[in-house]
Amino acid sequence: METIKFVHLTDTHMNAPQTDNMFSKFNLAGKVTRLFEHLRDTNVAPAFVIVTGDLSHEGGVEDYAYIRQVLDQGSTMIGAPVYVVLGNHDHRSPFREGFLQQDASEDAYFYSITINGLRLIGLNSQVPGQHHGRIDEQQLAWLEETLSIPAENGTIVALHHPLLSVNGMPDDHVLENRKQLGDVIVGTDVVGVLAGHVHSNNVGSYHGICSVAATGTAFAGELADEENYRMIDFLGYNLVTVNGEGISVQSVVLPSSQEEYFRFPIALLAVETNH
Ligand SMILES: [Fe+2]
Ligand SMILES: [Fe+2]
Repeated sequence: METIKFVHLTDTHMNAPQTDNMFSKFNLAGKVTRLFEHLRDTNVAPAFVIVTGDLSHEGGVEDYAYIRQVLDQGSTMIGAPVYVVLGNHDHRSPFREGFLQQDASEDAYFYSITINGLRLIGLNSQVPGQHHGRIDEQQLAWLEETLSIPAENGTIVALHHPLLSVNGMPDDHVLENRKQLGDVIVGTDVVGVLAGHVHSNNVGSYHGICSVAATGTAFAGELADEENYRMIDFLGYNLVTVNGEGISVQSVVLPSSQEEYFRFPIALLAVETNH
């Protein structure tokens, strides 16, 4: 098979310029544009880009219309399509109206698309109004049926909540029913599961399947000291290569200020929805 390269980025937490929220002053959309400019200028030439959720920080229709504009401009800049999934900060109806320009609907947003023989499956792990993530029964049944026919160059599954736990973070950050999802994907042609949500780079193996949570473009999260967690300015993406022998994930970090955005007690990670 031919080698297929694509870009995985996540947690853009963007909002329309006029929106007022805790991140407004940081121009998070400007960072996403800077990332696309970097992809263009370094001629990365990915087959596609996948954004694994928390597209908005608290998205309304106008926010999603704006996010669509930013990602469309990026897509044009690099000559490759951009696909997205929803995160816990996203909202289904405003997303469908503003981003997809469809009628408002609380239906889960999931899909399968094949690019150069590589199948990309986007799942909706976001549960309306909740911080935790789950893949519902409807998606699990659909996924099982979809995966019953292998793709020419394998399959990538993209979702917001990761399969693997992350040091220093409570367990509710991990996909609640990961075992159910694992039962569906293990033994199929799935070569990688890509996620976000935890705002730190975590690479591992879930029952033999490469499982990655990327750092967000909005900020990185890290332990500040024994009692506190902090969010810092960060910008980067993962370049994923699939070639029939395996999958490789290269983390690319772009210059950023590393300025501390916020600091809060670790205990709040379990109840806050700031990430
Ligand atoms: Fe999230
Ligand atoms: Fe996030």
